[in-house]
Formats: sequence, C-alpha cells, structure tokens
Amino acid sequence: MGIQIKTPEEIEKMRIAGRLAAEVLEMIGEHIKKGVSTEELDNICHEYIVHKQGGYPATLYYGGSPYPVDLDDEGNPTQALTGGGYPKSICTSVNDVVCHGIPNKKPLRNGDILNIDVTVIKDGYHGDTSKMFVVGEPTPQAKKLIQTTQQSLYKAIKMVKPGARLGDIGYAIQKFAEGKGYSIVREYCGHGIGAKFHEEPQVTHYGRPGTGVELKEGMTFTIEPMVNAGKRHVKHNKKDGWTVLTKDKSLSAQWEHTLLVTADGVEVLTKRQEESF
Ligand code: MF3
Ligand code: CO
Ligand code: CO
Repeated sequence: MGIQIKTPEEIEKMRIAGRLAAEVLEMIGEHIKKGVSTEELDNICHEYIVHKQGGYPATLYYGGSPYPVDLDDEGNPTQALTGGGYPKSICTSVNDVVCHGIPNKKPLRNGDILNIDVTVIKDGYHGDTSKMFVVGEPTPQAKKLIQTTQQSLYKAIKMVKPGARLGDIGYAIQKFAEGKGYSIVREYCGHGIGAKFHEEPQVTHYGRPGTGVELKEGMTFTIEPMVNAGKRHVKHNKKDGWTVLTKDKSLSAQWEHTLLVTADGVEVLTKRQEESF
C-alpha cells in the first residue's frame, strides 16, 4: 500500500480525532493523584471518549476480533469477543514500564511517574498521543528524564517538513537523549496513522543521517520516543502479553504526538492547550 498522502477531507477528520485525543489528556490530569488506580483513570477516559466525545478508544480489544467492537449505551461490547486483544481503553505505563502498560487496581504512590497513551477513533480516523504525569513530587532524576524525553520529541517535531528524512529525525532524537546519558528503546517506534491505527512508515527514534523515507506534504504519522534512564533493552510481561518493561528496572519515559506534514512544515494534530508550536 505504501505511504498514503491524506486528502483534505481526511486531514479534516484527522484534525478532529487528534483534538479529541489531546482533550482526553487535558481532562485526565486533575484525576492523577496518590491513591488513585490506573484502572480508575481508564474508566474515566473510557466514559469520556465513548459518551462525551462519541468516539471509540482505539486500544480497546485492539489485536483481537471483532475489532473495533460495537459498544452499547453503557459502553460495553454488544458482540461476543473471540480473539482477545488489548483489554483497556488507554495504556498506563508506570515507572519502569516502557509502554503498553495495562490499567490495574494498584493505587498510585507519591513519586510515581506514568505515561498515559490515548488513541481516539472518530469518524473512522485516529488521533494518537501520550504524555508523562507525575504523582506528587518526582525525584530530580525522574524529572530530568521526563523533560529530556519531551525535548527530544519537540526537537524532532521542529524538523518535520517536506523533504526532511526520517533517518535525520531519528538521529536527532537519539543524539539528544544519548547525549544526556539515556538510551532509546528500539523495539517500538512511531508510525503512519489515519484510517488505520498503525500504517507505514515506521518512524524509528534512532537512525542514520541522510537515510530513510523522505517526507511529503499530506503524510500523517506519530513520533513517540521511549527513553530509558538505564540501558535500552526491554522485556515483556509474559503473563499479560502486553506490558513492556525495562530489563534493568530503570525508569522509562515517553511522549507522543500525531503530526501532519504541511506545505512548509508541520501541524501538531494532537496539540494540547499548554503547548505552543
Ligand atoms: N497507542 C500505542 C501507540 O502509540 C499503541 C497501543 S496498542 C495497545 O502506537 F494495544 F497496546 F494498546
Ligand atoms: Co502511536
Ligand atoms: Co499511542
């Protein structure tokens, strides 16, 4: 299929889906505090996406079948689930969880850091975004990791324009994060996005300058660097089949935006009000 160039009509739908995903992150912040469980945060986001936004939380039963599932007025599936799939409406990745953490009943503790990753499907199109939150006061080390990871995403976003190459963008992220003594996770990357959750191209957060796909106006994709305080290697939780953790138990941070390549630069489709691009 190759890399799609979105039509103006598709771009309008991506703008809407992107804005909704950003609004979920804006909404959930005030709920994040000591004693609250990630399952409670998942419930709040699910309600908001399904009932307030009239959207579908794209991670819910992702990888299973049927997908996406029809939801009833209570937000529960109306069809029998046969194929498993990811069980929740958001991903919550706490401390040494790199990505795809499954919301659970464990109360958050002071000093925890967590990524909340939200993907909303609206009118057939996806908006995918994540940010880091802290519970109470983070350690200076955690704060620095979170800030560096966000800066690496912002530096990458600034490079997006027609003619730029993905190898240059990946290299910039890698150089910046590794320059601060951190490491870049290689097993997961950003991705094209549109009517499908994960499309071509793969957007790695490391790379070689002067290589890779050349960006063109109308492409939509995510950048979502995962940066570890320790070594880059990850392990998988075999029991739940989803959770990805750092092998050395070091902290990990991630930030994600969905982007559109415009005629002369970039539009951040999942921009939050607190951000200025
Ligand atoms: N939102 C993630 C991404 O940025 C994907 C989560 S897929 C799940 O691509 F199934 F793990 F939820
Ligand atoms: Co993504
Ligand atoms: Co995501």
